Amino acid sequence: MAKRTTRFVCQTCGAVAPRWSGKCESCGEWNTLVEESEGSGVGGGPSKKKPVRGRAVSLVSLSGEIAEAPRLPTGNSEFDRVTGGGLVRGSALLVGGDPGIGKSTLLLQVSARLAAQGNTVVYISGEEAIAQIRLRAERLGLAGAPVALGAETNVEDILSTLDAVDNPRLVIIDSVQTLWTAQIESAPGTVSQVRASSQSLIRFAKSSGAAVILVGHVTKDGQIAGPRVVEHMVDAVLYFQGDGAHQFRILRTVKNRFGPTDEIGVFEMTGSGLSEVANPSELFLGERDAKAPGASVFAGIEGTRPILVEIQALVTPSALGTPRRAVLGWDSNRLAMVLAVLEAHCGVRLGGHDVYLNVAGGLKIAETGADLAVAAALVSSMTGVALSVDSVYFGEISLSGAIRPVAQTVQRLKEAEKLGFTQAFFPGAGAEAGYGAGETGSMKISQLKALSDLVVRLAAGTPET
Ligand code: TYD
Ligand code: MG
Repeated sequence: MAKRTTRFVCQTCGAVAPRWSGKCESCGEWNTLVEESEGSGVGGGPSKKKPVRGRAVSLVSLSGEIAEAPRLPTGNSEFDRVTGGGLVRGSALLVGGDPGIGKSTLLLQVSARLAAQGNTVVYISGEEAIAQIRLRAERLGLAGAPVALGAETNVEDILSTLDAVDNPRLVIIDSVQTLWTAQIESAPGTVSQVRASSQSLIRFAKSSGAAVILVGHVTKDGQIAGPRVVEHMVDAVLYFQGDGAHQFRILRTVKNRFGPTDEIGVFEMTGSGLSEVANPSELFLGERDAKAPGASVFAGIEGTRPILVEIQALVTPSALGTPRRAVLGWDSNRLAMVLAVLEAHCGVRLGGHDVYLNVAGGLKIAETGADLAVAAALVSSMTGVALSVDSVYFGEISLSGAIRPVAQTVQRLKEAEKLGFTQAFFPGAGAEAGYGAGETGSMKISQLKALSDLVVRLAAGTPET
């Protein structure tokens, strides 16, 4: 039988098919199968080459000498928060994000910071020429930092270069999509190339003890393009998010083998690079129009940090048979649920209205605790009565119309108090130490049992009482 020399590899999930088809059988994505030559083994699979005898590695015990502190704090507080306290030696990180969001800028700043502390830092760019990076460094005022810079895309060349570097602490590869290894025949950017290249670099991280940061691009639907597989290989995955209209950038942990996930770091893009935002609540509340109906303040938690953010709702009579529901920054299914509960248990008729919901500042909220703030904003917009400027809201709404408690009540209240809020609406059950019903410090506490309690107060036009 004639030997087949090509095969088709899905660029999304890495599944291999013997022949081309429009849709991947494995993950159901369309137009993702790309022809690659056989033997470009996924992660260097078996080949026809003469077998080489492996080297025996020495097995050791769990306890033993650790020569150096396992973590390397970068001094950039937001970056350190997201990585769980600094870069772990010998670990590999993937930093993903849309083009132009500021990945290269952030990593150059982190590199310069570490290099200035006396660490050996190597920055390899496969996308930009040396002159471009130098220009950026100059603009950031970092041109004097002793970062070793290289422009290269071939993995073998990069590894030889790195082998010659004495005690590297941090290696940045910008980006994985530009890398190619001579061991594989497919084009740069394909799953096989990206996977094999990443694997070599991750192996380098483990053997040298240097932290390796791989930069990855993100497709329009928010996935790291092609190398989904890389996410499983690295120790931590960070996403850099933000939208064009705002200066804020959010670095979010989605996977971390050495620290907490769901932690966020907040940055602001300025004329001289990304600056750390130590108190993001002030930023997300900064542009508030206090007297407008339809806005409420949600006291949320992102990772370990409380963040206050404005929720904006607009409810208008609909001219359409099926009213519109548009959501930015929150889950649209969750909105549908809150609307249904308002209709069914609180007598708020929204069926003939278009509903628009927006989370200010381009933040994306995943917490169910935002339900109450969303409901408050919706009712406020519907009735045209502005909510009290000094109030925060948090709590999860159940389908029965009850308001369920959420975690870290005290932390949320403390943050609200710090920012000058004087009243909090939150679930009645589970009063936590120091914050019972009634007055607490300067905070007035209104504990609610059911969503209808809130609606009755808002409808009466006296949310303050
Ligand atoms: P960049 O780091 O090149 O993005 P990525 O590597 O994610 O593609 O960021 C480029 C953008 O950042 C560009 O639109 C200009 C902006 N920028 C600033 O606003 N201020 C600065 O100091 C720098 C260096 C970039
Ligand atoms: Mg870049």
